[in-house]
Amino acid sequence: MFAAIESLHESPLGKAFVALATVVGAYKLISFGLQFFSVVYDLFLSAPTNFNKYGAKKGLWAVVTGASDGIGKEYAFQLAAKGLNVVLVSRTLAKLEAIASEIESKYSVQTKVVAFDASVDDPANYEAILKAIAGLPVTVLVNNVGQSHSIPVPFLETAEKELTDIVTINNIVTLKITQTVAPVITATVKEKKSVRGLILTMGSFGGLLPTPYLAVYSGSKAFLQQWSAALAGELKPQGVDVELVVSYLVASAMSKIRRTSATIPGPKLFVRATLRSVGKRCGAQDRYATSTPFWSHAFMHFFIESTVGVYSSVANKLNFDMHKSIRTRALKKAARQKKE
Ligand SMILES: NC(=O)c1ccc[n+]([C@@H]2O[C@H](COP(=O)([O-])OP(=O)(O)OC[C@H]3O[C@@H](n4cnc5c(N)ncnc54)[C@H](OP(=O)(O)O)[C@@H]3O)[C@@H](O)[C@H]2O)c1
Repeated sequence: MFAAIESLHESPLGKAFVALATVVGAYKLISFGLQFFSVVYDLFLSAPTNFNKYGAKKGLWAVVTGASDGIGKEYAFQLAAKGLNVVLVSRTLAKLEAIASEIESKYSVQTKVVAFDASVDDPANYEAILKAIAGLPVTVLVNNVGQSHSIPVPFLETAEKELTDIVTINNIVTLKITQTVAPVITATVKEKKSVRGLILTMGSFGGLLPTPYLAVYSGSKAFLQQWSAALAGELKPQGVDVELVVSYLVASAMSKIRRTSATIPGPKLFVRATLRSVGKRCGAQDRYATSTPFWSHAFMHFFIESTVGVYSSVANKLNFDMHKSIRTRALKKAARQKKE
């Protein structure tokens, strides 16, 4: 056996094979090293994104959806802190008004609010946004509103309302809000010349990795991934940067996680990392117009993509096991609460 290997090794074919394997191995190692350095550079060494190019401190406006809680509320606060006026969109008017008045008094910017239920695809909702932004120089849109499953659930047992709401909110309404706001952004960029536009859309690890027991949410976020990258190509020549923001868990009402950790930041740290990294891929090195900006999420994304890959059976199985276990715990908790 060893003699056969040795003679193959000595043959011209064997030598060519070894040389090829060495070149391919070196190429892979070097490209892994360079990409890893790019992740570290984007996350820790590069200068933060300067929002002046998106109209900060120039009286221009940002529109943020899902702005009354969690990540969206932080986007609204941190964009206002950078000097953008903000239009806050979500479901609950009272929450929006309270946040708007806090933002105005804290950051001396202007605000407007638009309240509607995004699980209903009603033309009146887009008209309400259009009316609120009529005549305003808008440069930024943050497509943050989103819904997931209340708990992980087999696709075949997913309630029709939950299925419809997820697709309506995450996809139909997000696309139609973009069709409403993006023309105003391109018109502002054309008129002002010195500014660029920006459209950020919240993606998720749920969309990055096919996620059993969150199948509808997973599909809806994967849809946003493709759509956002396609739109990025279309709007770049018109001076608008379009970027999908990929996130693993963040402590919020949606994730039902209260305690933060190195892998689960609160909305404040998550949004700070996101706005700091606009235009940088961070953990999403292989993906155009995509960023995985929070440091631990970035390393997770990078290592999954550079090892087993997001579409592998290993990743699918691990993800399935994790969500099976979350479902079991959620069902036990619900049963306990029912008893009490
Ligand atoms: N949290 C995570 O672990 C995580 C991870 C990856 C990606 N994401 C994505 O990040 C985005 C924000 O998530 P989050 O965790 O910040 O959620 P959240 O804390 O639950 O906040 C959701 C926001 O969306 C609004 N909203 C929900 N349903 C709505 C509806 N039917 N009509 C209008 N507004 C509605 C809420 O308004 P009300 O206050 O009026 O309810 C609230 O302002 C989502 O797109 C989500 O998929 C989250």
